[in-house]
Amino acid sequence: SMEFTQVGSLTKELKDKEVLIRGRAHSIRAVGKKMAFLFVREGGFTVQCLASSETEGVTSEMVKFIAKLNRESVVDVIGIVSIPKNPIKGTTQEVEIQVRKLYCLNKAIPNLPINIEDAARSTTDLQAGQQFSRVNQDTRLDFRVLDLRTPANHGIFRIQSQVGIIFRQFLVSDDFVEIHTPKLLAGASVGGSAVFKLDYKGQPACLAQSPQLHKQMAICGDLKRVFEVGPVFRAEDSYTHRHLCEFTGLDVEMEIKKHYSELMDMVDRLFVTIFDSLNERCKKELEAVGKQYPFEPLKYKPSTLRLTFEEGVQMLKDAGVEVDPLGDLNTEAERKLGQLVLEKYDTEFYILHRYPLAVRPFYTMPCYDNPLYSNSFDVFIRGEEIISGAQRVHEPELLAERAKACGIDLKTISSYLDSFRYGVPLHGGFGAGLERVVMLFCGLGNIRKTSLFPRDPRRIVP
Ligand code: 4AD
Repeated sequence: SMEFTQVGSLTKELKDKEVLIRGRAHSIRAVGKKMAFLFVREGGFTVQCLASSETEGVTSEMVKFIAKLNRESVVDVIGIVSIPKNPIKGTTQEVEIQVRKLYCLNKAIPNLPINIEDAARSTTDLQAGQQFSRVNQDTRLDFRVLDLRTPANHGIFRIQSQVGIIFRQFLVSDDFVEIHTPKLLAGASVGGSAVFKLDYKGQPACLAQSPQLHKQMAICGDLKRVFEVGPVFRAEDSYTHRHLCEFTGLDVEMEIKKHYSELMDMVDRLFVTIFDSLNERCKKELEAVGKQYPFEPLKYKPSTLRLTFEEGVQMLKDAGVEVDPLGDLNTEAERKLGQLVLEKYDTEFYILHRYPLAVRPFYTMPCYDNPLYSNSFDVFIRGEEIISGAQRVHEPELLAERAKACGIDLKTISSYLDSFRYGVPLHGGFGAGLERVVMLFCGLGNIRKTSLFPRDPRRIVP
């Protein structure tokens, strides 16, 4: 019984050795009746396998069988590693395999809805006007299991996995506790209409739009510093490049000693660590993504820039963009400010804080010195929001008053409000969207590319 060799580790050192590989029939070409060329792909790697009926033990039936394989079928190949006279175009490995035996373990249908070679084409090929059939986003998502087979997608989901791992490692080593808050709730968690309603054994209920209320209640329970990686459900109406109806939230909540800047310190250290570690651990993956979707590495500083909302408004004003100083920034203004920040401070990652209170959720702490503003912040990558956070109101009377002022029916959050009657430390936190972090770190233009099986206002399959 032979051991399997990975296609990616087939090198010249293995010359004349017999190897066993498993992969997919990536492409097949017959030359007359005596020879067939088969590219076998495994992971992001491809190797050419050559079957010739002139080789001892290889019959012309076998050559015919290989020539008729359907693309993407799963095959085992046993053969001898050799070094081709001329470099082979279109494979990642510099050696080829002289086929001795081939088994088809699982046959793919003959006419695939997506051609993997086309799906893996780079956007620069497209711009250069090269002729091939473009695979559009919807087709990719309809047949996601095929689309996922491209090197860029393998890169994206390995990067996504690493973001979660680094997030956990960093926080656990800083004495945080990982928690799991309920996703079935009796009322809307943050207020607003963007909730999925459901029937909970005869009682009205909804899917959690955020771990917000329960992560704060964990602080009420003295867990001190908590985080969660979990699903967040939003019944979004907006069909955009950055909104999903289900995404993975990276949430943090912690006690603070004096000032909400402690939260921004945490964002700074945590995300700079995430970016540094991705650049270090995911070189190959970032390269694979960039090969299909070219992007510039994210520009960020070892210590993250902080601007106040007022400073941001002023920068926009100086550039001729008028915005409401006590309103929210729209997507366009956020983008513009991102550009201005890049020009002035040479960074694409920054924190904007002290937002107007009126545009923040009810649980946000107003500024002590000016209640028109709040102890809150948003964080941007390449001019788009990835995080929002704030110090929370911990006085039960003020909390109820703020909820009322925001039009929330107090009955729906009574157990949350009650949690603040038994003594609560100063605290705050923030939430990021995993898919957005990966999308923006890699400069990808659509969040559907960084969600394994995206759910958006128009899609709930596959
Ligand atoms: O800004 P959001 O709505 O804030 C909260 O949920 C707060 N409870 C967080 C807190 O601790 N204060 O969402 C947080 C982040 C956003 O910055 C964005 O990255 C992501 O979640 N996000 C979405 N990602 C994908 N699709 C959507 N529809 C998203 N909505 C928010």
